[in-house]
Amino acid sequence: MAQRVGIVVGSIVAVGLLVLAWAAIRPGPLAFAGKGVALSDYSGQPTGVPADFQDTERLARGQYLTQAADCQACHTTEGGKPFAGGRPFDTQFGTMYSPNITPDQETGIGSWSDAEFLKAVHEGVGKGGLKLYPAFPYASYTYLTDDDVLAIKAYLFSLTPEKNVPPANALKFPFNQRWLMTFWAAMYNPNTRFKPVADHTPTWNRGAYLAEALGHCGECHTPRTPLQSLDNRRKFAGGMAEGWRAYNLSSDKESGIGTWSQDDLVSYLKTGHSMDRGSAFGPMAEAVHLSFAKLTPSDVSAIAEYVRSVPPVDTPDLPAPKSEPAPADPAQGVAMDQNTKGREFFAGVCSGCHGWTGANSLVSHSTLTGTRAVNDPTATNVALAVLRGSSALPPSGDIATMPAFGAAYSDADIAAVSNYVTARFGAKGSAITADDVRKLRETN
Ligand code: HEC
Ligand code: HEC
Ligand code: HEC
Repeated sequence: MAQRVGIVVGSIVAVGLLVLAWAAIRPGPLAFAGKGVALSDYSGQPTGVPADFQDTERLARGQYLTQAADCQACHTTEGGKPFAGGRPFDTQFGTMYSPNITPDQETGIGSWSDAEFLKAVHEGVGKGGLKLYPAFPYASYTYLTDDDVLAIKAYLFSLTPEKNVPPANALKFPFNQRWLMTFWAAMYNPNTRFKPVADHTPTWNRGAYLAEALGHCGECHTPRTPLQSLDNRRKFAGGMAEGWRAYNLSSDKESGIGTWSQDDLVSYLKTGHSMDRGSAFGPMAEAVHLSFAKLTPSDVSAIAEYVRSVPPVDTPDLPAPKSEPAPADPAQGVAMDQNTKGREFFAGVCSGCHGWTGANSLVSHSTLTGTRAVNDPTATNVALAVLRGSSALPPSGDIATMPAFGAAYSDADIAAVSNYVTARFGAKGSAITADDVRKLRETN
């Protein structure tokens, strides 16, 4: 009897230890691809600027890398001076503000040494040992080479110093205790540099460096654990970014981008649009505008090659997008007596640009059929697109952009039209409420 109890207790302890080990071991972003080798043992050139980047000046190199890492997006407020900080980030733990990273001596980082800057970007430890929150994506930037980080510093230090003191963070206890970040970083920041995977092509490795170390796609597109570390066991299965859903980027054919061609992805990253796949809004539009659109063709192509190699992971609530257009007759498709408010709003405000079929719409690039947003049963990004419009997209010739309707219409109107759009053009439809829209309106 005692022996049996011993076996049972022993097995429970063993299972407990296994579970703990499983939780403690965090696969890195390239774990899916096999073992990496030291950069010095690798013959290709995945780091630095690409071969088709002509300017050999150090500052031009630094600027290219700063853009590829998109430091500007987070360190600039709407309408504010680039890199002068103050952009709010709403998290479940409270609101935090990005610091000023212009070279101002008092309010920026003008007095920082190279070693201090490296420690911040690789380890999340600021000047004087200040423990930084992972809203600063140092767990991705840690993969950057010292050389590239210092080229970024050289570029930042060539900018005009701006005096600006951003508001103090308003975080709830215990998250306002910075010292706790020591434990977070110890557990979740690998603090290792990029290791190429020799079994893959040089282009793939360049793409991996761009996507993981510089462009930090996973910071938005990989789900997080309750302690906010990236869950690379479900790599690229989708995450949240400032209230928006950053959809599944894995090669899953239903909920990911497994049916996208290389050209679809290149076009989306380079211009924010892909004819059959839709357009980037919100933080993705901003990343395209400030970062991906500025990369050389070889770099955009490398990112696409790498991203397309990520194994499929399913996001349970996302169905395969519906590919057939809706009927041209407004009376067909969604029954006339269903969501009359949404249909009337769509007829009056949206159909002029989008038409009733959703495909080959009247305004170039505004196809709704087949896009992820209208096939998302939460309608989060549809409601946000209607609230805010697409102003963050880079201007592209004669293409009309989507206006913001948030100021002119109520939460109830926007909920109604969002539910109409997902029902008419999507696979499942949605039931977003006025209260959900109100919350989205307030998110930073
Ligand atoms: C996703 C948003 C985001 C991106 C992208 C980002 N940062 Fe930050 N950064 C932050 C936030 C938020 C903080 C403040 C963290 C804190 O208060 O603990 C921060 C802090 C810093 C600090 C510490 C400054 C200080 O005064 O303590 C430095 C230096 C810094 N970032 C540099 C960079 C550089 C260089 C890049 C590009 C390679 C970059 N950041 C990209 C959000 C970002
Ligand atoms: C700051 C957060 C953020 C970063 C960084 C980011 N994305 Fe996104 N991405 C988003 C959001 C949010 C969306 C949804 C946009 C929408 O619905 O219009 C999105 C959408 C996409 C889509 C369209 C997916 C679909 O099914 O329609 C692709 C493809 C994509 N991102 C690729 C990338 C790649 C590749 C990188 C890195 C090189 C990257 N993103 C980095 C936030 C981000
Ligand atoms: C002035 C023309 C115009 C009007 C009016 C307009 N849109 Fe758009 N819409 C666009 C364009 C153009 C795009 C593609 C993104 C861009 O380039 O701005 C777009 C994109 C979208 C998307 C994102 C699709 C994707 O790729 O993820 C949704 C959803 C959407 N519109 C819904 C609406 C709704 C609902 C209304 C009415 C409240 C509306 N639009 C009114 C022009 C318009």
